[in-house]
Order: sequence, then C-alpha cells, then structure tokens
Amino acid sequence: MKFNKLCVLGLGYIGLPTAATFAAHGLKVHGVDINPRVVDTLNEGRIHIHEPGLQTAVESALRSGNLTVSSSPEEADAFIIAVPTPFQHEKFGDHNGLRYKLADMRAVTSATEAILPVLRKGNLVVLESTSPPRTTVELVAPILERSNLQAGKDFHLCYSPERVLPGQILRELVENARVIGGITSESARAGRDLYETFVKGEIHETDATTAEMVKIMENTTRDVNIAIANEFARLAEKFGVDVWEAIRLANLHPRINILSPGPGVGGHCISVDPWFFVEAAPELAQLISQARLVNDAQPRFVVEKVKRAVGGLKNKRIAALGLAYKPDVDDLRESPAIEVVHLLQDEGAQVKAWEPFAPDAKLDGIKLANDFNSAILDADAILLLVNHSQFRNINPASLASTTSARIAIDTVNAWNVTEWQSAGFVLHRLGVNTSPASNRHS
Ligand SMILES: NC(=O)c1ccc[n+]([C@@H]2O[C@H](COP(=O)([O-])OP(=O)(O)OC[C@H]3O[C@@H](n4cnc5c(N)ncnc54)[C@H](O)[C@@H]3O)[C@@H](O)[C@H]2O)c1
Repeated sequence: MKFNKLCVLGLGYIGLPTAATFAAHGLKVHGVDINPRVVDTLNEGRIHIHEPGLQTAVESALRSGNLTVSSSPEEADAFIIAVPTPFQHEKFGDHNGLRYKLADMRAVTSATEAILPVLRKGNLVVLESTSPPRTTVELVAPILERSNLQAGKDFHLCYSPERVLPGQILRELVENARVIGGITSESARAGRDLYETFVKGEIHETDATTAEMVKIMENTTRDVNIAIANEFARLAEKFGVDVWEAIRLANLHPRINILSPGPGVGGHCISVDPWFFVEAAPELAQLISQARLVNDAQPRFVVEKVKRAVGGLKNKRIAALGLAYKPDVDDLRESPAIEVVHLLQDEGAQVKAWEPFAPDAKLDGIKLANDFNSAILDADAILLLVNHSQFRNINPASLASTTSARIAIDTVNAWNVTEWQSAGFVLHRLGVNTSPASNRHS
C-alpha cells in the first residue's frame, strides 16, 4: 500500500517525533492536538517538550511544508493515534480487597471519534497508545465502524506499540524492532507498508491483541523486576548488608540481571501499564498487582529512612534533589520523587525541591526552589531522589561550603561514601543500613 498523507493525533513525546520523522521521509503529515498551547507553540516553530534533536527535526518538517498542525484531523491515507492512556485518579477497582487502578481511555475514545468524519474506504488506522488488551478490537473498531465502514474489510486497523526511550526517541524510532498487530493479516501488511517508510529495525507482523499484550508485558516485566530490587533493598537494610554490593555480586552470575532499587517507579508507562492487566483480570494478575503495591510503597520506605536519618521530620529542612521520574529527563509524570516530597511535607518537613530539567514546573502543593544553591543553602539534610548526571557529579568537598547540611541521603547509589564522609557528611544510602553491627568476622 502506498501512503502520501498521514494524520497523527496527539503531538506529545510519541506523536510529535513520529510525525516529524514521517515528514522528513517525504510524507505530508498533518499533526493534531487538542491542547491549543501545543498547536500554537508548534505553529510558532517551537516545541513544548524536551527531547534531544526534536526541535531541529520539527523546525525542518514545518519549513519543508510536509508538517502542518491544527486541532482537528484532515482526510488522509493513514491515521496514527498517539494520545495519553493514564490511569484514573478518582476511581479504583476492587477485587477481594485489592484496590487497583483503572485505565483512563477517554483520550483514545475521543481521538478515534475525531477520525470518524474523515475516515474513508481504504484508509489505515493505527493505535500506538499503550492500551489494555483487546482495546483495538473492542473499543477502537466499534467506534470507527459507526462510519458504516467495516474494520478489516473497508479500512485497515492495527495496533503498534511504541518502545522508544525518552532521550533517544528520534534514533530509536528508526532503529528499534517494531511489532505491528493487524485485526486482519492485510491490516498488518498495510501497517508494515506505512512504517517501512523509515523503520530500519525488523518489523514483525502479528494480530492486534498480541501486539497490545506484548507492550504491557514488556513494561510489566520491568516493574516486577524493579519491585524485587526494591524488596532486596529493604531486606538488605534489615540484614546489615549493602544491597548495591550484593546486587553487583549476584549479577556476576551469567544468567542473573537484578535491576537497581530506587525511590519507586514512575513515568506514565511502567507505573501505569501493569494495572491494565490487573484491571482486565485481577484474579490472574496476582504477582503483577503485588509488584505494583511494592513499588508504590517505596516512597514511604524512603521517607521512613529520611526520618531516621534526621531524627524526626517535624520542621526539618530537607533539600530534595530531582523530581523527574528518571535521570536526565524533564518528565514528572507519576514521579515517585514527587510522592516522597508530598509525604515528607505531610510529616511536617520543610522541603525545598530542585528539578534542573523543569525549573518552572507547577506542582500542586510543592514549591520549587529558585535554583540549586537556594535549595541546599540552609538545609538540615540533602536528599537525592533522581540520578541526574549533574547531581551524580557533585563534588561534596565544594558542596560542604555552600550548605549547612551535614546529612545526605542517596536513594539511587550515585554518591561515593568515602568522598562524602571525607567532606564531612554523614551519607545514608537506600538499601544500606548505616547503623547495624558489622557483619564481618574480625
Ligand atoms: N513517552 C513515552 O516514552 C512512551 C513510550 C511508549 C509508549 N507511550 C505511550 O504513547 C502514548 C502517548 O504518550 P506520550 O508520552 O506521547 O503522551 P503525551 O502526554 O506526551 O502526549 C499526548 C498528546 O496527546 C494530546 N491529546 C490528548 N487527547 C487528544 C485527542 N483526543 N486528540 C488529539 N490529541 C490529544 C495531548 O494534548 C498531548 O499533547 C501513551 O499511551 C503512552 O503510554 C509513551
């Protein structure tokens, strides 16, 4: 199948790089977003998210005339839906006392409805949003069939998960292997024809529900593996063991690869997608729901550690370094670091938070410091929550003269104990109990 014009709905971390990449490969791309700020910013030639190389890619796509942006879809040969699929914050499911989060599919529903008036015979529609199993056949297809066109017969319909890593999106879009699940094999074939425009990685055709499940399985596996690392950190503290050393040694085994513990799991993928399985089949997803609970409880575990380190939290001044959900990105969604700050404040601590990648972020109930120095200046303790390179590279000897703090708590194993101790700090680390008697025989 040949494609000349493409319409991409949702111009965020996934949709915008995808639109720009198709445009760079000669397709006429019409990008659609319901957020007027996004549309206006793009039409002024700027981008609203932080992603290396994206500004240049979008600028040249706009300049070439291959990319246009507005708030409503236009007729096209193919449509890609890349809108958010978060969980609902106000409603929960319940299964024998297990409270689980529910997928919020409103954006997928409304984006699909927006395609209806411009859907034509022979079109291809691809859902890229991470979605619960059977969304393509049970939610998207019935909406599109309100057009009186039949999915799989009059138009092609696919699900194709996105696997790019923020920070490397433009490269990974092209190089990663891609799974394309069609509701018929002809749909999958049409999907392949579209993505072959630029994808250099292998393209694997399958059915739509398998493709949906593949994506959720990938993120669920990460989540469960992080949960066990977090649980190891708790166990190590109990046994007076340094979890980082234990993990390093365990990982020398050729078939073991334990991930790193931390303050929790965030972002809008790994901390969200496993719930899609739980919601779809709570009676079957028992390990998965337990892992979610372990990771969601990790910010509380960190707060208890801080409380012990500073001797109670009431009126303690804590400098919280990093609020993003992972290193070197500006994405704050579902960030466990933010949850840690909220919990510290709930316990009466005065927190000055600093996030270098999003210094102007507006967060409910959290006041950001103006800069790094004002966050640490009069702190009682410095709490490292995100392993941003600039925090990793802090020189404790120089830092000591710019802060009143002499206690530091590292939740991501970024700082060297000897260096921080020599600089006059007491350094507490997640997964290491600084107080128990030595485990070594003398
Ligand atoms: N960001 C990632 O690294 C990543 C990786 C893999 C998969 N995903 C999945 O891709 C999907 C999109 O994620 P994202 O990170 O790009 O989200 P995002 O929030 O960065 O962008 C989504 C955009 O869609 C717009 N939007 C919302 N409803 C719309 C509608 N009805 N019509 C048109 N636009 C609409 C929003 O205004 C926003 O600009 C999600 O399902 C996510 O889980 C994301």
